Amino acid sequence: MKELHIAVLPGDGIGPEIVEQALNVTLAVGKKFGHTILHETAPVGACAIEETGSPYPDSTHELCMRSDAVLFGAIGSPKYDNNPNAKVRPEQGLLAMRKKLGLFANIRPITTFPGLIHKSPLRAELIDGADFMCIRELTGGLYFGRPQGRSEDGSVAYDTCMYSREEITRIVQLAYDYAMRRRKKVTMVDKANILATSRLWREVTQEIAAEYPEVETEFLFVDNAAMRMIQWPKSFDVIVTENMFGDILTDEGSVITGSLGMLPSASIGLHTSVFEPIHGSYPQAAGKDIANPLATILSAAMMFEYAFDLKAEADLIRQAVAESMKAGIVTEDIADPGVPTCHTHEVGEWIVKWIEQH
Ligand code: IPM
Ligand code: MN
Repeated sequence: MKELHIAVLPGDGIGPEIVEQALNVTLAVGKKFGHTILHETAPVGACAIEETGSPYPDSTHELCMRSDAVLFGAIGSPKYDNNPNAKVRPEQGLLAMRKKLGLFANIRPITTFPGLIHKSPLRAELIDGADFMCIRELTGGLYFGRPQGRSEDGSVAYDTCMYSREEITRIVQLAYDYAMRRRKKVTMVDKANILATSRLWREVTQEIAAEYPEVETEFLFVDNAAMRMIQWPKSFDVIVTENMFGDILTDEGSVITGSLGMLPSASIGLHTSVFEPIHGSYPQAAGKDIANPLATILSAAMMFEYAFDLKAEADLIRQAVAESMKAGIVTEDIADPGVPTCHTHEVGEWIVKWIEQH
C-alpha cells in the first residue's frame, strides 16, 4: 500500500474531459488496491496563459516536482495556431515542462486492438499483430537548439539541431534496455547520409550495440523508415530516434493502428514522469463529451506501471478497457457505423464500475 501524489494537468481542448475520466479510473484502482492517492490540479497551455500569462507557470512546475507522477491531458488552441506572431504560445509550456523536468525520453507504444483492425487505413494482414515501441528523444535537437530566430530584416529564419554524446547515449541505452525485455531488436532512425548530428547518433549507437550482442540492430534513414512503417509495421520492435523524426514518425505510427484515440505515452527522465495521450487537444470536440478517454485512461495504466511500479494495477486498467470495448461501450471515433455510441463520461463511468466489481 502506497501513498501516491499525482499532479493533474488537464490543459486545453478536450484535456479536462478525458483527464477527469482517467483520474476517476486512477482513484478507483487506488481504492481497490488500498493505496492513498492524493491529487492536485494545475494549469498548463493556453488556459495557463489566460490565467497567469505563462503557459507553464512556476507554481505548476513546483507541483510537478513534488509529485510522484504527472497526469497530463493536451495543450494547444486554434487561437494561437492561426497567429504566427503570438509572443507566448501554449506549446512553449509543453517544451518548458519537458526541459525543466528533464523528460528526455518519450515512450509511445504502438499496439493494435482486437476489434479495431478494420479501422486501420492499412490492410488487416499488414497491421494485425503489429506491436512496437517508439522511443523519441524529447529535450534536444531542433526543438531546443539555439540560435533560433530571424535575421534582422526578417527575411531569413533559422533553427539549430544539436546533440551531445551524453544526450544520445542515455536514450539509446534506454532503447536497448527495453529491447532486452521485448523481442530484442532496435531500429535506429536517422538521416546520417546528410546530417552531422545523425552521424553522431549512429556512432554512439554502434558502440552501444556492441555491448548487446543478443540484440539485432538496424539503421534506417528516416524517409525509408516512414515508408517501412506503412509497408511492414510488423518488422519493428523498438525504434529510437531524435526529437523531430520521432515527433513525425509517432504520429504516423499512431494512425496505422486505426485508433489515434487509443494510444497512451510516457515521458520519462531526470525528475517526475509525465503520462499523456498521444492525440492532441482536438478543439473541435472540446466540451462536447464525445472525445475518446481511452488513450488517457491507458496513460494512467502506464503511470501505475512505470512511475509507481504497480503492474497489477496497470493490468487491471488495461483489462477494464478491453472489456469496455468488448461490451461496445465506445465513443463514436471507434464505433462501427449504425451502432449506438457512448459519451466520454459514460465510457469512464463504465470502466470505473467494472474495476469496482472485479
Ligand atoms: C507531441 C506534440 C508536441 C510536439 C507539440 C504540441 C509541441 O505534437 O507531443 O508530439 O511536437 O512535441
Ligand atoms: Mn507531435
